[in-house]
Amino acid sequence: MLEIGKLNCNTLALAFIFHIIVLVEVIGAPPLMALAAKYGIISDVHANHTAMKMALVHLEAAGCDAIINLGDLVGYGAQPAECVKSIRALPNAISIIGNHDRQAMGEKDERMRKTAAKVLEWTAQHLTPDDLDFLRSVPQGLVVEEAFILVHGSLVERDAYLLSSPEITRNMRSMIEDFPKSKVCFFGHTHVPMLIGTKAVVTDLQETKMFKLDPNEKYMINPGSVGQPRDKCPLSSFGIFDTKNWTMTFVRKPYDYKVAQKLIIDNGLPEKFARRLALGI
Ligand SMILES: [Fe+2]
Repeated sequence: MLEIGKLNCNTLALAFIFHIIVLVEVIGAPPLMALAAKYGIISDVHANHTAMKMALVHLEAAGCDAIINLGDLVGYGAQPAECVKSIRALPNAISIIGNHDRQAMGEKDERMRKTAAKVLEWTAQHLTPDDLDFLRSVPQGLVVEEAFILVHGSLVERDAYLLSSPEITRNMRSMIEDFPKSKVCFFGHTHVPMLIGTKAVVTDLQETKMFKLDPNEKYMINPGSVGQPRDKCPLSSFGIFDTKNWTMTFVRKPYDYKVAQKLIIDNGLPEKFARRLALGI
């Protein structure tokens, strides 16, 4: 069961009860479709600034008016400050927080693997107080004008991985019952691009592909991971959501992962986080 906080214009809140997400509705903000026609959707950048720069350049060239960042800007990679600065510098960006971002700003999660937690200790030391304040200001979920939902993990449990059939069913049910007016829920966390509808789930997204969406259908969409893809494809993964033509494009693009790997090793971070970038695991 999911609860929604109702707050005044642009007031965002962070809250959760027994690991159940409390999403925050932004009341009075302009409808999302009026804010932008084309959204660049990025998630799980994980301090991979080489991949992030490539993705942002591509999204700007593709005519995106705004960027939606679904969380986990930091962790695993060696350029957390550069990634936070890049998102803060964007004129029109909406961010939500991820579990690695939360750990970097001091919210300990005992389930975090030791090597990942070690990198986040290093990350916290390499962020400025301003960067940490920015992360603290980012909400953990957003519902914008009832039409779009943004979460990092899943709709019904903050850090659940939305991959299995039972989890997909549980979330789609919540989407239908708890958010009858919402058409699309964007999520991240699994690092696997996915298009979930009520009738079909698409997971084979290792090449750039555009989908025409049905305006009467509900979708849950994961754009994949910009900085640490895990679908056995090392290409960076992100998306373009066109609200005029009602299309979702999953973009797969190469970047120079050797630069990101070298930075991880040169900074003394675990080598396995460098190795996996070449494999997409
Ligand atoms: Fe992540």
